[in-house]
Amino acid sequence: MESKYVYLQPTPVRIWHWLNAFGIVTLIISGAQIRFPEYVTVCGSYRSAILLHNTAGIVVALSFSFWFFYYKWVSGALTNIYVPKMDELSNGLLKQVFFYFWGYFKGASSPFHATPDSKFNPMQKSAYLAIMFVIVPLVSLTGIMLLNIGPLRQILLIIGGLQILVALHFLLACMLGAFLMTHVYLATLGSTPLAYFKPMWTGWEKVDHNHHHHVTEELHGAADRS
Ligand code: HEM
Repeated sequence: MESKYVYLQPTPVRIWHWLNAFGIVTLIISGAQIRFPEYVTVCGSYRSAILLHNTAGIVVALSFSFWFFYYKWVSGALTNIYVPKMDELSNGLLKQVFFYFWGYFKGASSPFHATPDSKFNPMQKSAYLAIMFVIVPLVSLTGIMLLNIGPLRQILLIIGGLQILVALHFLLACMLGAFLMTHVYLATLGSTPLAYFKPMWTGWEKVDHNHHHHVTEELHGAADRS
């Protein structure tokens, strides 16, 4: 079968993604030890878990800034790639959800095909928007505040004290954990289990001949009808 490749993931995105993934997995493990020291001891002493957690947190916050800088000012595609349009929400989102709960198990292929200008299906757009514009910034912000509680005393008093900040940080981290499990599961549902991982590693996605054929047919069909 003839295949073509498209360049889907530029180098900065790939560097950010794996640094971020490694950092967040480290944060989840060390964070679990800090929260539940009686049950989790993988990082050694309590002090070393905290040190590792603080370091990984700074790495993730910096790599987040790198991600934002790249998409916003280098590629300029941040909004186009990450913010869903009205019809994607009203039509495409449900279609994609239906595919993952039903069509996928019936052997259908995904109703969406990635191109460099439109990399995400409506479900990815919504999830990545929430995770990259809300959850990661807030978990980083609350983490940075917890690293600097001294100078923040006044702000802490206003938002209700350290307990609230700790609870918020933990709750956001749980959401991130829930996203991560879903994200990794969905990432294995390509035409082969590794099909979606390869572009995030090499940059290139394989587009098979069948899909091309299908697209050209659709185009011809549309031309015939017009
Ligand atoms: C072990 C952990 C992880 C694995 C195996 C993994 C896997 C993948 C794969 C295969 C893709 C490409 C498919 C796609 O574009 O949707 C991807 C993209 C993405 N992942 Fe992950 N991921 C991991 C952790 C994370 C974490 C922790 C976050 C965020 C907090 C994250 C956020 C994203 C985003 C935003 C994209 C789209 C990036 C872009 O193209 O701009 N991933 N991931």
